[in-house]
Amino acid sequence: MTQDELKKAVGWAALDYVRPDTIVGVGTGSTAAHFIDALGSIKHQIKGAVSSSVASTEKLKSLGITVFDSNEVDELDIYVDGADEINPHMQMIKGGGAALTREKIIAAIARQFICIVDATKQVDILGTFPLPVEVIPMARAYVARELVKLGGQPVYRQGVVTDNGNVILDVHNLDISDAIAVENRINGIAGVVTVGLFANRGADVALVGTADGVKTLK
Ligand code: 5RP
Repeated sequence: MTQDELKKAVGWAALDYVRPDTIVGVGTGSTAAHFIDALGSIKHQIKGAVSSSVASTEKLKSLGITVFDSNEVDELDIYVDGADEINPHMQMIKGGGAALTREKIIAAIARQFICIVDATKQVDILGTFPLPVEVIPMARAYVARELVKLGGQPVYRQGVVTDNGNVILDVHNLDISDAIAVENRINGIAGVVTVGLFANRGADVALVGTADGVKTLK
């Protein structure tokens, strides 16, 4: 099976977690896009979605799914999204698609985070994938210097402006063996909007696409 077929399999498998008449939290990226396609097939059974990016909002709307403002929603049953890496503690690196801040907000609102990944995203220790950090533009150089002090090598993601009007630093070679400590430390740097470490709030369920089928981790 190709990687995209594995992503499609987990995107559709996530439908099992969607309850009727609920508003569904929806992530961003190529795996989440398969989930949106799947959601389109049951659109008459749900109230709608809260979206983590302009791109996902456009796709949801093109399928006729109502998109709610997150401020209109008190609680979400589930949030379904991909990840760039996930470890055995269900902690993740996210933000390869630059949507990390809105993803973290919706994950915080949701009761359950359903992570959908192909097996290549499973790692023992996070950090081979460069860690995305969303930064207020005027703080870019300062935050980069602070990240160097933490042992990382930040690289400015050229030409990318997030949906919130900010920039992304991708941090290479950071030691993320204590993911909660690193998340808290980077979140404390002035000018950081969000770090793409989802360790304090990890996934509750991971659906992993493998050659032997979709595996469920809890
Ligand atoms: C976007 C994300 C995505 O979930 C992550 O990059 C995985 O993307 P894909 O499903 O395309 O492999 O965090 O900000």
